[in-house]
Amino acid sequence: MSLSGKKILVGVTASIAAYKTILLTRLLVKAGAEVKIIMTPAAENFVSRLVLSTLSKNPVVSALATDGSWSNHVMLGRWADVFIVAPLSCNTLAKMATGLCDNMLLATYLSATCPIVVAPAMDEDMWYHETTSKNLSFLSRHGKHILKVASGELASGLNGMGRMMEPEDIISWVETFFGQQLLLVGKKVLITAGPTYEPIDPVRFIGNHSSGLMGIEIARACSQLGAQVTLVLGPTSLPVSDNVVTIKVNTAEEMFAVCQQHFGANDIAIMTAAVADYRPENVASEKIKKDDSEFTIRMVRNPDILAWAGAQKRANQLVVGFALETENEVANAKAKLDKKSADLIVLNSLRDVEAGFGKQTNKVSLITPSNVVEWPTNSKAVIADQLAKYIAEMPSKEHVNTAHSA
Ligand code: C5P
Repeated sequence: MSLSGKKILVGVTASIAAYKTILLTRLLVKAGAEVKIIMTPAAENFVSRLVLSTLSKNPVVSALATDGSWSNHVMLGRWADVFIVAPLSCNTLAKMATGLCDNMLLATYLSATCPIVVAPAMDEDMWYHETTSKNLSFLSRHGKHILKVASGELASGLNGMGRMMEPEDIISWVETFFGQQLLLVGKKVLITAGPTYEPIDPVRFIGNHSSGLMGIEIARACSQLGAQVTLVLGPTSLPVSDNVVTIKVNTAEEMFAVCQQHFGANDIAIMTAAVADYRPENVASEKIKKDDSEFTIRMVRNPDILAWAGAQKRANQLVVGFALETENEVANAKAKLDKKSADLIVLNSLRDVEAGFGKQTNKVSLITPSNVVEWPTNSKAVIADQLAKYIAEMPSKEHVNTAHSA
């Protein structure tokens, strides 16, 4: 794919990897993009403004004001189709995560309306520092795209993680991004995530270990593909992307009520929540006192939200469920697909050590009426990105389960 007509703003910060920005700029221009460059003042120690302005065919901006005239950072962030900060130093990362605004690059970052991509570059110890992880995850949560770092020789002479992604790989990423980013524009996606807590009395409940991370990542991924996302989220302390509308619930019945209200207006429903199958029949209004006798809680069935959505769905709606199986995984997941009239079941098996509750990684298989696809282990964030893309492309595939559609 060419980048013809794309307007790309490149931000350069103070890192030895800034030498790679020269090739990145050249490759972007060669691919047909219109390129403008902003440098932090400190980046000028690492790469020449003359080289970058010549290659980009545009003046390089670095000061908020020059010769008494103000540089319009707002217009730069609006001009661009994407803003790529490459390399991203630890210092600029920390400023981005805290909202500091002491140079042109940061002012543009804070006012940009276009998608933002960062290519971190730093020494391994800095890469693994807890503040770096915290700052990067803050940016990611707020919809910024974080490019992977590579392992290899570092400016310090050490070998390890922290090398900036190679310019050729950044170009491929950008091409893929432009190819994909609009896949869910105009679509509404309803997602359930997290556990449910079923009260026993005012202080006790029956719950499970779901963290909600998988569903939260899928919400972020769908929103980054342009969807309008409503996330119905059970009790969790994990943060959610701020462009996702989140409705917090506690119990399965509350989650069901919200889904009943919103399902009709959505094109796609993705049910990742670990909904409690049963709830105590009666909830005590006061804390239950212990005594010497045994204690039994009578449980009643909760509504199956996925099965309800499957039974309700119109021909132009897609319903996706998750399954966690411990035996006969694929056969059970296929049966679930049918029973709940879902179009896709994402199966995670507890046999995989990298998969399941509370883990950052997952290993899933995709079960559709006509196909079983096994995906390799990956971070939940990457799986969410792949899944959002897969689901976005599903209506054009043939295996949509219309057998039970209304
Ligand atoms: O039947 P099982 O609980 O294994 O099915 C899991 C799938 O069904 C998940 O997608 C889960 O979100 C959904 N589910 C639901 N409501 C329930 C139980 C499960 O939506 N009460």
